[in-house]
Amino acid sequence: MAKNIYIGEILRNEELSVDCFWMQVALHSSFADPQPGQFVMIRISGLSDPFLARPFSIYSFTREKNSCAVELLYRVVGKGTQILAGLIKGSQVEIHGPLGGGFEIDVAIQNIVFIAGGMGVAPLSLLTEHLCKRACFSQASMTFYLGAKSAANIVGLDKLKKLCYKINVCTDDGSMGDKSLVTQAFQKDMKKYLPENTIIYACGPKPMLKSLEKMLRGKKFNAQVSLEERIACGVGACLGCAVAIKEQKNNFAYKRVCADGPVFNLREVIWE
Ligand SMILES: Cc1cc2nc3c(=O)[nH]c(=O)nc-3n(C[C@H](O)[C@H](O)[C@H](O)COP(=O)(O)OP(=O)(O)OC[C@H]3O[C@@H](n4cnc5c(N)ncnc54)[C@H](O)[C@@H]3O)c2cc1C
Ligand code: FES
Repeated sequence: MAKNIYIGEILRNEELSVDCFWMQVALHSSFADPQPGQFVMIRISGLSDPFLARPFSIYSFTREKNSCAVELLYRVVGKGTQILAGLIKGSQVEIHGPLGGGFEIDVAIQNIVFIAGGMGVAPLSLLTEHLCKRACFSQASMTFYLGAKSAANIVGLDKLKKLCYKINVCTDDGSMGDKSLVTQAFQKDMKKYLPENTIIYACGPKPMLKSLEKMLRGKKFNAQVSLEERIACGVGACLGCAVAIKEQKNNFAYKRVCADGPVFNLREVIWE
């Protein structure tokens, strides 16, 4: 087996709501502790169709004395996730990871704002957990804005309630929380946060991140986003996941989401 590719055993694979699954996979204890924002590529052992592994953010991670386990949250959108959804406890999967880089953490900051759309909740939940338990941020310093199309698409809320002091839930159709886009819910509160004392972490569909970028133009917030581009090799070899990132003097360069990201500074991404 190549370096950091593991055969894992599925401990649970439960449908939390329509087409949204929570998977826990047991792994050999040599799997490295992931940084929040890192992801794994998952493939069904012995199956060559679909040929490519699929990327998923690490939602949670636990380590016991002689083993460890990763948890993923995923939505069924196509062939690969459809196959994953059909796997039962005890099935084997190939897990490559942890891959990519994690979110930057500034221990001097006072307010932490999370903005998640849909399955964007997965990497931000691990980050919330990490900031509470490892970086010792108080629950009161964290505010989570969690949005989805409707109540049926809100996942991960129970875990967040144990970690965050304030959670603003919004849905496009108003079936849970406020009837609003998650970025609009944040915009309403924006004045409460001093840019110099606040860091924003966001993950979600591209239109959501694009509108956040527009909202923050001219303001001094530090905002980091995790991108969910389509990924092929996952290790920086094929350039299939390249995104344009601004550099100094109006230049830009292509960066690989899988190897240089998936976390980037929101202002540096060229959102075309
Ligand atoms: C770093 C990273 C982390 C991710 N984390 C998660 C996660 O925690 N939970 C989760 O549910 N998904 C996550 N994704 C997206 C997930 O990888 C895709 O949904 C999955 O690969 C789709 O596989 P499929 O074979 O089912 O769909 P395919 O058959 O490959 O595609 C089906 C449909 O989904 C669309 N699609 C496929 N991949 C993406 C994508 N990356 N972004 C937007 N649309 C896509 C296709 O355009 C197509 O319309 C992540 C992606 C990346 C790059
Ligand atoms: S997917 Fe191959 S370089 Fe990123």
